[in-house]
Amino acid sequence: MTPPPLTPAGLRCAELRCAHLLDPLGVAPDRVRLSWRLEGTGTGRAQYAYQVLVTDDTDAVAWDSGRVESGAAADVAYGGPPLTAGGRYRWKVRVWDEAGTVSGWSDPARFEAELDRTSGWYASWIGPSRIREGVTPPSGAGPVDPVARALTPAPYLRRAFTVDQPVTSARLHVTALGLYEARLNGRRVGDGFLTPGWTDYTRRIAYQTYDVTGLLNQGDNVLGAVLAHGWYAGFYGFDPKRAGAHYGTAPELLAQLVLQLADGSEQRIVTDAQWESSTGAIRHADLLMGERHDLALEPAGWDAPGFTALHSGASGAGNWRPVRARERDGTPLVADPGPPIRVTQEITPRSIASDDSGRHIVDFGQNLTGWLRIKVDGPPRTRVRIRHGEVLAADGSLYTDNLRTARATDEFTTAGGPEVLEPRFTLHGFRYAEITGYPGDIDQADVTARVVHSDTPAAGNLESSLPWLDQLFRTIDWGQRGNFISVPTDCPQRDERLGWLGDAQVFARTACYNRDVAAFFAKWLDDVTDAQLPSGAFTDVAPRLTLTGAGAPAWGDAGVIVPWTVWKMYGDTAVLDRHFGAMTRWMDFLERANPDYLRARELGNSYNDWLAPGDDDTPHELLATAYWAHDAALMAEIADVTGRPDDAAGYRALRAKIGSAFTDAFVTADGQVASGIQTAYVLALHMNLISDDLRAATAERLVAAIRAAGWHLTTGFAGVGYLLPVLSSTGHNAAAYRLLEQDTMPSWRYMTDHGATTIWERWDGWTAERGFASPWMNSFNHYSLGSVGEWLYRFLLGIDQEPGAAGFGRLLLRPHPGGSLDWARGSYHSVRGRVAVGWQRDRDRFTYRAELPPNVTATVRIPSAQAAEVRDAAGNAPSALASFPGTGGVQEAVFQVGSGAHEFSGPAISDPGYS
Ligand code: BGC
Repeated sequence: MTPPPLTPAGLRCAELRCAHLLDPLGVAPDRVRLSWRLEGTGTGRAQYAYQVLVTDDTDAVAWDSGRVESGAAADVAYGGPPLTAGGRYRWKVRVWDEAGTVSGWSDPARFEAELDRTSGWYASWIGPSRIREGVTPPSGAGPVDPVARALTPAPYLRRAFTVDQPVTSARLHVTALGLYEARLNGRRVGDGFLTPGWTDYTRRIAYQTYDVTGLLNQGDNVLGAVLAHGWYAGFYGFDPKRAGAHYGTAPELLAQLVLQLADGSEQRIVTDAQWESSTGAIRHADLLMGERHDLALEPAGWDAPGFTALHSGASGAGNWRPVRARERDGTPLVADPGPPIRVTQEITPRSIASDDSGRHIVDFGQNLTGWLRIKVDGPPRTRVRIRHGEVLAADGSLYTDNLRTARATDEFTTAGGPEVLEPRFTLHGFRYAEITGYPGDIDQADVTARVVHSDTPAAGNLESSLPWLDQLFRTIDWGQRGNFISVPTDCPQRDERLGWLGDAQVFARTACYNRDVAAFFAKWLDDVTDAQLPSGAFTDVAPRLTLTGAGAPAWGDAGVIVPWTVWKMYGDTAVLDRHFGAMTRWMDFLERANPDYLRARELGNSYNDWLAPGDDDTPHELLATAYWAHDAALMAEIADVTGRPDDAAGYRALRAKIGSAFTDAFVTADGQVASGIQTAYVLALHMNLISDDLRAATAERLVAAIRAAGWHLTTGFAGVGYLLPVLSSTGHNAAAYRLLEQDTMPSWRYMTDHGATTIWERWDGWTAERGFASPWMNSFNHYSLGSVGEWLYRFLLGIDQEPGAAGFGRLLLRPHPGGSLDWARGSYHSVRGRVAVGWQRDRDRFTYRAELPPNVTATVRIPSAQAAEVRDAAGNAPSALASFPGTGGVQEAVFQVGSGAHEFSGPAISDPGYS
């Protein structure tokens, strides 16, 4: 489509989204919030009013907002009469700018409303009537491997049907208990993988809707599906004995194909007793264990018309039997609110090392999550085996000890001739793969790594004068990609892969800068609320699995921190309203348990400052109380922005009581916090638990503690994300840079200098002195310690928001140059559009450039030795000067700007304490 013309003065509305997604085909009515981004040339461009027009599928107007005098370009709630379940809507928007000029209408976008959760479904759950086929112990053989026994062939399900008229439009609504791949007339439906994703299947089941109009024939058709165990019935979590015991033992399918026919009638094909099932090439498929295919067993053409199904009555590949059907129960079926999991990239090997025994070690140069696709051309019944690992042992062999019980092995028995081997119902976290049994010589072009994760569009970028820093930046993003897969997991390789709340919480702000995760978190926050205990406690993990008690401090608190972060970054108040009740129950739970406002009870597994290096530990109640105070402060803000002034006042009062209890218990008159450990200082300063008159002294003590550790950090998961922000914002920017650039352990740079391409779980995951840390807990792809990403964006680049602002309408551009960095540039594609900045230091001059989208304002604060001399490109002086806390020679020159390109330049900072 050609974009509408951009008149010199006109603004253009682009990237229209509903519920943070482009043209979603299933949205719950209470999630319908509309957003758009503005494009336009010139400076100081702004939206003064907007008009949204929503039409239904008969082109009748469902909602005309009329001209609304507002700069809001996100979080705009649909305001018309109730949406029709399953209804199809189109919408467009136009805006009036600062001169009163109206833009053209945007290109139309669309959304379709979710089906009615009860009356909208006509289908039954179906699965094979017999699933056991496979491992029978040969007589006289030893005990059967319990893992192998649990791994059963993937069910194939099919239903043939005829359509006697042209199809004008068709939708397939489909889900599974387990995983499904839908097939229609020999083609795969959609480009998503591992559908329908992971939820607590006893609480809600997500389904996907596909536009399959183009896949249908007038005449004969076949709808089919392949199922796998997935999160529902497979091995998962760190207690592999529980295979099949988490939710259920056998996968099932629920599908509804709705056809609109030329004569205006509707035809429905639903899962019911008329379907039949068999098995095929996939002999087992499991997220942790891997997949085994016997390609000769694939019933060619089974999912297309013209296939003759064999009905011999026997079970096994090639024989088709009636399915078992069961009525739906009351578990809500919800349109998937999250982005699909897709293959987002393919990577060819950097090298392949082969030995004489036919073992090939493939290095992809990048730790990633996904699987391999291999081309082979060999004799029938060739067995190719692929094992996956993140690192190599010293002798060059694949190191898999840290995978614990996850076998992460894919095996293929070929049918013969040219074939492509690829799993699709498993996931491996790996940089290296070991291939054995490959027929003939292996070529780099024959092997591809397919990168799989929730498809969250890239939003942030950073480049600098330090190559290792750029590598750190990429490492942080790769860790996110490898772990944001339906839920934010701790790690993608070993037998764990759980939706740990603590990890998600510390990394959430970084995650939002790296990628557009608004819809992803919207989905997961439902999992968090579903997992909430009757007591009101949020949990350690969501979906709740294995760990069923109250969440630890900094873990359970994610139930408040993550929604607040999503609001902060995307201006999304819907997420706050949706979870306000759950957040309130959590706050009540904490207060009931701790009536003296020190959080000492109900600490669950109290992981504390998890994996902090060093012997000294932050007092558990200190960390817990600081996080509680933080929750209360965020709740007050949340209540304010969602129009709940009484709640806001209540949470402010609560915050004050927790604050006093904290100070009484942990802060001395001269600003020491507990025994003086770094995390204690960081939390106290970040959570504003230190009175203004003591802040400088406490910050000095933090720096002294860092110096005493040889300019090393001693923070773990709970403290690390706030460490550099606290230092830079208390006038100790130089200390922040010393930690950033530190290259001995523990440090980020130690990881990247030693080959990390994703952030390690532990600072000492590998050390020159001791090699690998204990395999029992040593992931090389755990994003938590990568929460320093937030500082890179907000402080190093200076892309931040005014205090109290949300959704990137009111920016604070406040770069913090320092260390040995000469220049840095980067960008953030916010809900309001792309914010790009860059700075450089040339001898004694500092220059900062910023390019802002329409409809934002920014306060720019340029640090300088002589702030009064800083000028913008037109030679204007700053509108104000500010003194930077805690330093002698650093001041800031303050400018107010709107959209467009800006440049500021002035005497560079000379204060060594700052830079
Ligand atoms: C996980 C962590 C998690 C922690 C809680 C570990 O097993 O991998 O990421 O936060 O447990 O202590």
